[in-house]
Parts: sequence; structure tokens; C-alpha cells
Amino acid sequence: MKTTGNSVSSGTFETVEPKELFKPTEPSVLFKLRKLQDYLHISTKPSRFIAREKEFKQVHDFIAKGMDTGKGDSMYVCGSPGVGKTLCLQFAVDTIKADPAYRTKIKVVQLNAMRLADPKDIYSTLYRLLGGRKGQGAPTTAVEYADAVKAMLSTEGKRGRDGGMTLIVVDEIDFLLSKAQTVLYRLFEWPRSRSSAMMLIGIANSIDLTNRFLPRLKQRFCEPKLLVFGAYNKDQLMDIVSQRIRESEREVEMASGNESDTADEDAPAALTYFQKAAVELCARKVASRSGDVRKCLDICGQCVQALEDQAGKEGREEEGDTADTQKPSLMVKVGDMMRCLSKTMGSPVEKTMKHLPAQQQTVLCVAAIVTKHQDDVKVYQLREQYLSMTKGYGLPRLSAAMFSDIVSALSVSGLVKVTSSKSARSKQRVVQEVTRLSQVAVCVAFDELRQVLAPLNTFFTKILDRGETSAN
Ligand SMILES: Nc1ncnc2c1ncn2[C@@H]1O[C@H](COP(=O)(O)OP(=O)(O)OP(=O)(O)O)[C@@H](O)[C@H]1O
Ligand SMILES: [Mg+2]
Repeated sequence: MKTTGNSVSSGTFETVEPKELFKPTEPSVLFKLRKLQDYLHISTKPSRFIAREKEFKQVHDFIAKGMDTGKGDSMYVCGSPGVGKTLCLQFAVDTIKADPAYRTKIKVVQLNAMRLADPKDIYSTLYRLLGGRKGQGAPTTAVEYADAVKAMLSTEGKRGRDGGMTLIVVDEIDFLLSKAQTVLYRLFEWPRSRSSAMMLIGIANSIDLTNRFLPRLKQRFCEPKLLVFGAYNKDQLMDIVSQRIRESEREVEMASGNESDTADEDAPAALTYFQKAAVELCARKVASRSGDVRKCLDICGQCVQALEDQAGKEGREEEGDTADTQKPSLMVKVGDMMRCLSKTMGSPVEKTMKHLPAQQQTVLCVAAIVTKHQDDVKVYQLREQYLSMTKGYGLPRLSAAMFSDIVSALSVSGLVKVTSSKSARSKQRVVQEVTRLSQVAVCVAFDELRQVLAPLNTFFTKILDRGETSAN
């Protein structure tokens, strides 16, 4: 029977020195890597909200002001995906709820509009979340629910009478967009109605949701305060990733009993399994594309997964720190990160091609094949080829003007180059306006184009394969 320092062996009690009893056990490499994976996963809520101090303060102050004045108000929080909007709201709400000055006076209702089958369902959902009466006398139609909720959120409502306020946070609020925008108008107008005891915070991606779809809010003096979250920059992404790594290391220390009381929370992360330059590379790349921290965490998580696989293969599951320090090869280095980045993010050209409208993709495929076999292809010749190749596939017959527009759009994306061919002798000029006589050249290597577009639909596969075979 295998014994450990504090176990019983062969039915006899061993004398165990107290010092030995509490001797910290060193966690295995796999345990540490799995912890690291957990902490790099987006579903793990970090213990502190960093890199967004200004935005956090604005949200916090907005809520605190509403509580202090007892006046209703609304805010619209926007920004591209993965820039910390939802997390910021969570931390701001938690902070207010923990504040002795507000905790008994505030009721918070948080919901995600994406989960509603219909925008109007928000009324019955709010009614339920606010603890509305069920059964006899309860509302039955959307209008009745809306009236009941408005009354519950006014100073005449139960909470309002006690000087309390209700904060409603609607995430993905753009899912409430509808034809007449009745729901959104009503929601943003409630906080400004005379007896309102309601604060509303709506969150979505688009910066112009209220201006574009709810222009009457301005005329009615119900325009929400606007808070825009910019994309994370390289340093912010580095801080977020490093903080998570540090939190994972602290948990490992605690699990092994090596926890230090004097651990400095703000100390720079000891990147045991990452070369700092590798994290920096990831942060820089993501910042230059989208600033979406999810991407950054995901890529770092994938790198840790590769380490886990490597540790498994090398049979290092049971080895502790000694093995670690002896074999510093178990670390995400710049080269590993570069491989992971190119696998995950692809080239910018690849992304552009993938997200083109289908018509532009089709014209690009045709252009790739035609220009592969013929020099000096003119726009009208390309259109003729397009019409002949797409015949029988049910695709729209593009007029010459529409075709030129598509070529022009492809040229703006940098996927094709359009030059004028006024004079064969004069140097060709890149042109702004596409005419039927303009010359077209594809700027993407055929193989790359084929690799990206062929899997998107069978028509592309067919015409690109035809191009391949006629080339051979
Ligand atoms: N400042 C931060 N510190 C630590 N983790 C963060 C931070 N910002 C974002 N994250 C992580 O990234 C994930 C995505 O952030 P969040 O959900 O707040 O993005 P979002 O801006 O609401 O995106 P979307 O528009 O897609 O809803 C969070 O779950 C969190 O794990
Ligand atoms: Mg969100």
C-alpha cells in the first residue's frame, strides 16, 4: 500500500512529525496547466476588473447618482465584441450591491434580450423578475404587462414608495429592434416619466443604435447617456492575460499550501509557462485586428493545451517543479505563438475573402480563373466569361453597370487591381472608376484563393477546379 506523509499504513499508526504532516505537496505539471487553462477561459470571472477603470467609474457613478437623487435615467453602453461591456456592468452592479449606502435600496434586474422570442416578451419577463402577482388579476396581454411594469417601476410602486430604485440592465438590447420600435421607445421613455424610480442600462455593439433607430428620443428629451467602449489596446490585453495567469498561479500556491501572505496582487505576473514576448505578440496581433480579449484568451488557452499535450506525451504528469525547472522547454515560446496565431487568425486577405458578399466572391472566382489563363483581361471580357460560367446555376444575370460596381468593390478591398488601358504605350494607371475597358488583375495567389473560397459552396469548388484542370 502506497503511503503518504499523513496516511495510515498496514493497519498500524505511523508517528508523523507535525512538520511533515503539513509539508506542502507540490502540484503536478498537469494540474498547474489545467488551472491555467481554467483561468484563461472566458467563462472564468476574474477577481478584479482591470484595464477599464474609466468606463467602470462612469457606469458606477451613473448608478450612484440615480440612487442619490432618486431620479430615473438611462444609459446606452456600446462597443465591438469582447471589449468588456458585460463584465464591466457585472462588476459595477456587484460593487453597488455591496455598498452599505445602496444595498438595501437597490433592486437590480439583468436580462439578455437575445433570449426573448419576441421583443414584446420583455414586458412579461420584467413583470416576472420584478415579482409581479400571478394568477387572477395578473396581466394577460403585452400592453397590460407593460402598464403593470411601468407602475411597479414608479414611485407609486412598492420599491419606489420606500425611496428605493430599480436598475434594469438589458444586454444585447438590439434584439428588441422591431418595425415601429415601440418596445425600445417605451423602455427608454420610462426612466424619464414623472414618477419614475427606474434606471435603465442597455448594452449592444452598434454605436448609433439610438440615433439611427430611435430618433424621437432626442425630441422627447429621453436620449440615454452614451458610453462607448473602445477596442482593447496591446497593453490592456497584456494586463488582462497576465492577471489571469497570476490568479491561476495563486490558486496553485494555495492548493499546495505554499501561499504567501505577503503576495503582492499588483506584482507583475510570473509567466511560468509563457515567454513574455509570446504573450506580447498575441496581444499585439489581436489589438491590431479587433481588440477582442476573447480572441487573446482563446489563443493563449490553445497554446496551454499544446503544452498539456506535450507534457502528457513526455510522461511528465507526475513531475513537480523540479522537473519544470530542469526542463524549461515546457513553455509557450514566440515560435509556438506564431504558429497558433497563423492557424487561428489566418491572413487578413483570407478574412476579407471569407466575408465578401456572395456575388463578389463569385466574380472573384471567375476573375481568378480567367486571369490565370489570359493576360490583359478587360472588364467586359470578364463579364462575358462570368455570364457563360454561371449559366444554368440560377445566379442573377448581372448588367454591365452592376458588374463594374462589383469589380470596383473588389478593387477597394484590394483583392483585384483595376488599371486603365487607354494607351498601350503609356504606363498603366490604377483607376478609381471602373469602365468596361478597364483591365483587371487578381491580387491573391490562386492557391490561397482556392483554399479559402472553394469550401464555401459547391459552385466555387466546381469553377475553381475547372480552372485547375485546364491549367494542367
Ligand atoms: N477587463 C477584463 N478583465 C478580465 N477579463 C475580461 C476583461 N474584459 C473582458 N474579459 C473577458 O472577456 C470576456 C468577454 O467580455 P465581455 O462579455 O464583457 O465582452 P462584451 O464587450 O460584452 O462582448 P459582446 O459584445 O460580444 O457581448 C469576459 O467573459 C471576460 O472573461
Ligand atoms: Mg456582452
